[in-house]
Amino acid sequence: MRIAIIGTGNVGSAIARGLAGKGHAVTLGARNPQDADLVALATEVGAGLARPETAAAGAEIVILALPWGAADAAVRALGDLAGKIVIDCMNPLGMVDGVLGLTLGHSTSGGEIVQGWLPGAQVVKTLNQVGAEIMAKNDHLPQRPVMVMAGDSEDAKARVAGLLTDLGFAPLDAGGIVRARLLEPFGMLWINQALLRGKGRNWAFAAVEG
Ligand SMILES: NC(=O)c1ccc[n+]([C@@H]2O[C@H](COP(=O)([O-])OP(=O)(O)OC[C@H]3O[C@@H](n4cnc5c(N)ncnc54)[C@H](OP(=O)(O)O)[C@@H]3O)[C@@H](O)[C@H]2O)c1
Repeated sequence: MRIAIIGTGNVGSAIARGLAGKGHAVTLGARNPQDADLVALATEVGAGLARPETAAAGAEIVILALPWGAADAAVRALGDLAGKIVIDCMNPLGMVDGVLGLTLGHSTSGGEIVQGWLPGAQVVKTLNQVGAEIMAKNDHLPQRPVMVMAGDSEDAKARVAGLLTDLGFAPLDAGGIVRARLLEPFGMLWINQALLRGKGRNWAFAAVEG
């Protein structure tokens, strides 16, 4: 599939590494595509490199890996994404009562807000529930980690499930985009353990069935 990754920080670069060699045409969308480190990353993973709006225009799937605070303006600057699948990996984080937490929830979610910005696109919330390192490489884990997704389009989720499988995850469908209200606190649960309770970053959630 033709995939644009908008934002090339921890998450964007991890997904680019995780998808390398999996048969996709990946373009990194960056504000400064001349940056030497990004040129090196693009070469390493066999990706193209372009301005965000150019990368998004040529893609079937647009992955948003931006800081939440920058997302509104950055997403609007991408232009018309109607008809595209948009993967929202972002967690609406900020300081809440003096500690890192979610700045919204219960009655809405980041995923629903992104879908509201992009009414013609099929937004799928996912890849927000583990650290970037596990997105890039997880085959050392004893079990295939689970990755939950939420979105209103069954067709979009089926295609995103294929991508999640390529990244080493067992996809799990939580339902419509309204279920991003569950996925964002679930991401916060990973952050709480990893960063605030000292568990570190080399782990993920798995689903066991009997
Ligand atoms: N880090 C994790 O382990 C992790 C895991 C799951 C989900 N997330 C979520 O994923 C998102 C990204 O996290 P991250 O750790 O990858 O952040 P990051 O390392 O700070 O990277 C953010 C990227 O967004 C780009 N960017 C910022 N403003 C932009 C704009 N206006 N237009 C275009 N690009 C812009 C930055 O570009 P420049 O380099 O040009 O500034 C950078 O490439 C966040 O919402 C976070 O909550 C993170």
